[in-house]
Amino acid sequence: MARTGIDTSILHKGAHSASYFDLSRSMGEGAEIVDFCIPCNPYFPTPEMFDELSRDLRNILKYYPSDSQSITNKLASVLGLHPQTVAMANGSTELITWIDHLLIKESVAIPIPTFGRWTDQPLETGKRVDMFPLQERDAFRLNLDDYVRFIRDRGSRVAVVCNVNNPDGGYLARRDVIRFMDALGDLDLVVIDESFIDFSDAEQYPSVGPDAVIRPNTVVLKSLGKNFGLHGIRFGYLMANPAIAGRIGKALPKWNLNSLAEKVVYMIQEHDAEYEDSLRLLSRDRRTMAGELSRVPGLTVFPSQGNFILVKLPTEWSGVALRDYLVANHGVYTRECGNKLGMTSQFMRLVVRPARDVDRLLDGMMDYGRQFRVRPAYEEDPLLDTRRGWSTADEEPDNLIQYPSHRTTEYAARRAANG
Ligand SMILES: Cc1ncc(COP(=O)(O)O)c(C=O)c1O
Repeated sequence: MARTGIDTSILHKGAHSASYFDLSRSMGEGAEIVDFCIPCNPYFPTPEMFDELSRDLRNILKYYPSDSQSITNKLASVLGLHPQTVAMANGSTELITWIDHLLIKESVAIPIPTFGRWTDQPLETGKRVDMFPLQERDAFRLNLDDYVRFIRDRGSRVAVVCNVNNPDGGYLARRDVIRFMDALGDLDLVVIDESFIDFSDAEQYPSVGPDAVIRPNTVVLKSLGKNFGLHGIRFGYLMANPAIAGRIGKALPKWNLNSLAEKVVYMIQEHDAEYEDSLRLLSRDRRTMAGELSRVPGLTVFPSQGNFILVKLPTEWSGVALRDYLVANHGVYTRECGNKLGMTSQFMRLVVRPARDVDRLLDGMMDYGRQFRVRPAYEEDPLLDTRRGWSTADEEPDNLIQYPSHRTTEYAARRAANG
């Protein structure tokens, strides 16, 4: 694909990834981006739902929404939750902010790597953040017993777990999370951030939401933006016992939620089946994508239950250079993890996307990887025999990084169709 004309310097500016809007403003005429960076559901809302939203856009933009409590009550009734156990806000990020302001007094424990706001927000307000490093040798799996011991050793007063964790996609079984909550019943607060849990297919009822609302010190967080593929709306909610949920709810401004959020909350009850379908498609894509990625020699693919997959790049590759190369030359936007605590640029988090987009990503990776093909170091190398025939730059050595030569005809056909 032709160069996109994107000015990659914008990718080097902030601590956080450039937004889609930043990128599209910097793009050349006609260029389009395949987004492997921002983890959202590609199958929801359906095109019909977008049509309905477009038809209503004028009213949505013109009129005040209902007050936040009414929208929250509606959400609770749609989801079958007790209204007093729910507080709704502008994304789970807003709830993390309020949890920090109101419920974290001195210290919080959090496994890293994880979502940056869980470390940065409490640090910004002067709290002690006890970071529990997940280990690459364990595929970043969180051992809850070790984590409880760490919390006790440090004397942390609040404990957070992200299930599913971002960026590795690690998943904890519901019964284990319940045991964890019970082991820490004496803390000021235990937060289970389930912003990505809808995407997991490990068990039928993975959420500990119903368990949290009957406990004295537990909050469960959900991100509707992530689930419904509507990050731009900024909406999420928490579940907790009525005292905690009420405390957060009362801190929020009366008209905190916008009319688009209200419209979607009223729409989703009609589209439950499509939502469930979208999750099934996403699980299928995750399996396919993990399989495709694991065929790239030297790439380590970590098991994920999220709508993203963490990979470790071959040693000689650089995450920053690969990200810039992919966006500039293939219109593929990825997330290198160098700015995440507990990670390095050698790791990339890739959003789960349909097969044709994954083909485009792999094409880009393959092009990037070509520069690292090793040339024979010594003319006398006995291995040279096995490289016979590799005499011109265009011919492929057979013992080095092997790319799609071995890929399926289905892939080749898709690639041809993509142009
Ligand atoms: C674990 C986790 N929690 C919460 C959030 C924030 O989500 P929202 O868009 O609902 O604010 C993120 C965003 O990436 C996340 O990774």
